[in-house]
Amino acid sequence: MKKIGIASDHGGYSLKEMIRKNFPELDLQDYGTFSEESVDYPDYISKLAVDVAAGKLELGIALCGTGIGASIVANKVKGIRAALCHNGYTAGMSRAHNNANVLVMGGRVTGPEIAFQMVRKFLETPFEAGRHEKRIDKISTMEKNHA
Ligand code: RB5
Repeated sequence: MKKIGIASDHGGYSLKEMIRKNFPELDLQDYGTFSEESVDYPDYISKLAVDVAAGKLELGIALCGTGIGASIVANKVKGIRAALCHNGYTAGMSRAHNNANVLVMGGRVTGPEIAFQMVRKFLETPFEAGRHEKRIDKISTMEKNHA
């Protein structure tokens, strides 16, 4: 079974908990946060992103209030392609065309049913490769040259 990581700050905490409860069948490693108490999203999202990049997790799910901070942080980690998505279509396309390895959502801007659809689409959609492969390779080259 795929090992999936999930992390949030306080802005994404409540949606993180709903996702955890709605997908009991997943092998989900929870990187926190563990309450509504205010925390700094880089502290939680970076740990998840580092473990995805290291291959300890197959895919990650990251949340903050808007999803913006979480995506900025995750995308700082070499090898991470974090996609801030807003519906099932974008979540599926982030896998099919962008080979995204972290799904990012905003807990304050996304309802639970849409979030569940995004998680399902993200986890079930394979990378199409083909013409998309060379574009991902170009992103990796950018990482090497500009990181
Ligand atoms: C926390 O208040 C909020 O700034 C954070 O969750 C996130 O939305 C940042 O991008």
